[in-house]
Amino acid sequence: MKTEIYKITDEKDEAVGRVGELLRSGALAAIPTETVYGLAANALDPQAVSRIFEAKGRPQDNPLIVHISSFDEIYPLVKDVPDEAKALADKFWPGPLTIILKKSGLVPSVVSAGLDTVAVRMPSHPIARAIIRAAGVPLAAPSANSSGLPSPTRASHVIDDMDGKIEAIVDSGACGVGVESTVVSLAVNPPRLLRPGGITHAQLESVLGRVDIDDAVTNELEKGAVVSSPGMKYKHYSPKAQVYIVKGSFESFRFFTDYTCKESDIALCFDGEEGMLKARAFGYGGKDKPQEQAYNLFDLLRKADKLKAQRVFVRCPDSDGVGLAVYNRLIRAAAFKIIELPELYALTGRTGSGKSTVAAELLKHGFGVIDCDKVARQITEKGSPVLGRLAEAFGEDIISPDGELDRKKLASRAFADSESTEKLNALTHPAITDFVMNYILQHLNEHKVFVIDAAVIQKSKMIDYCSKLIVVTADDEICIERIMKRDSISREKALERIKAQPSELEYEAHADTVIKNNGGELDLTGIL
Ligand code: TXA
Ligand code: MG
Repeated sequence: MKTEIYKITDEKDEAVGRVGELLRSGALAAIPTETVYGLAANALDPQAVSRIFEAKGRPQDNPLIVHISSFDEIYPLVKDVPDEAKALADKFWPGPLTIILKKSGLVPSVVSAGLDTVAVRMPSHPIARAIIRAAGVPLAAPSANSSGLPSPTRASHVIDDMDGKIEAIVDSGACGVGVESTVVSLAVNPPRLLRPGGITHAQLESVLGRVDIDDAVTNELEKGAVVSSPGMKYKHYSPKAQVYIVKGSFESFRFFTDYTCKESDIALCFDGEEGMLKARAFGYGGKDKPQEQAYNLFDLLRKADKLKAQRVFVRCPDSDGVGLAVYNRLIRAAAFKIIELPELYALTGRTGSGKSTVAAELLKHGFGVIDCDKVARQITEKGSPVLGRLAEAFGEDIISPDGELDRKKLASRAFADSESTEKLNALTHPAITDFVMNYILQHLNEHKVFVIDAAVIQKSKMIDYCSKLIVVTADDEICIERIMKRDSISREKALERIKAQPSELEYEAHADTVIKNNGGELDLTGIL
């Protein structure tokens, strides 16, 4: 079949009449709505409606929404119009809200998939309503995607799925909302939210009082469970790529994607974060902008397939307001695969500040603690590539005859001046970072928080992966005494060590939390 494409940007365009004519006579046409594109047919023509199921590959038991262009058109479709329906329509129609009511005998059972209810909606898209008016009949229209794929929010998406299967596609640009309408059932008491969308739960309650949220909105249904809305039991909105929702801070997301994404993977993050990630990344809206997220989500899920992505890692959206609709679509796209990441905290402080005592205390509280001094030793073991590079930079004699690193000799050269110290850091930091991150990756589920204990973490890439910087401080005199005792050195030498490091003020300048450790009880509020 040849599919005609009609570009319509004005409801007065004469093509509106032609599309209406096509629909009235039993053809299928994809039409824009403010939510997503719909695949429309005359709702009163069972044969035309059956072709929708064929074109989409849609299971027969999943009912369709009937679209009307003015409120009065609802009366013939339903048994009765309760006051609640009028109140909702008053407030939210035309708009992204579908209301379920007991159906009349006029609605063919293929539309309601055998149920005794019918879903009705009056879209706000002017071209959608002009087409319904031109058709002169109510239009049954599910989203115009192949069943299971993300709903189409651009005409190009519809063309990808429906070209050659239907008579016409109307191209009116991108859909403003981007996720399908809110579905609320008034056929039960109290009313029940079956699918979240552009009209929020709170908005519904402002009109109806109590509205229950169906379990299936946020939870995975058990096999064989009875569902209020048949559409919820099918896998939905999924691109071919495997989608994962990733929970945690941006820093954890950055760590996780930097260390797991391959070239064939994609990260979906919030706007502005793309540039900080190593993975191929796309922003799907501002962090606090669920409307933007809804607008972009399906387009990006489809783009993932165009780019032949294998896996898509998505920053978990907040599920408040319209965010609930975004979250609801995403968990289905992800087939409920959720990765909960631990947080990474950086723990640092001057030498002698008592950082290790704090680390030991956090370990007791169940934190995963990683000591970077130990890691530094591991990456410079006998025969390691880092050891070879250090010898090239600081002299072959920093390796003892037994092949081990002579740490004292290295320290005397590397800490002689700041240039040498930087050279040492450049040679060791990347290997330490890789070691630590790979360790956390392998122990991901063992702790909610990993604490990375490192003396100069501010200068390492690791700091980018930490959502909190904890700085331990102690009075100068106490630091000096601790160093003298720990390393059995003179007061002068201890002072020299302290001076070689950044000042206490520099450490504190970037801290999220400062812990004073002059001995005695530690105050860990702000961390636990
Ligand atoms: O925004 C939208 O609602 C779009 C545009 C085109 O209007 N349409 C749409 O239709 O998303 P569809 O078929 O993709 O989703 C309709 C949802 C399905 O989950 C279906 O199971 C549910 O509404 N539904 C339809 N009639 C129902 C009924 N009588 N009782 C319970 N759920 C019903
Ligand atoms: Mg759909």
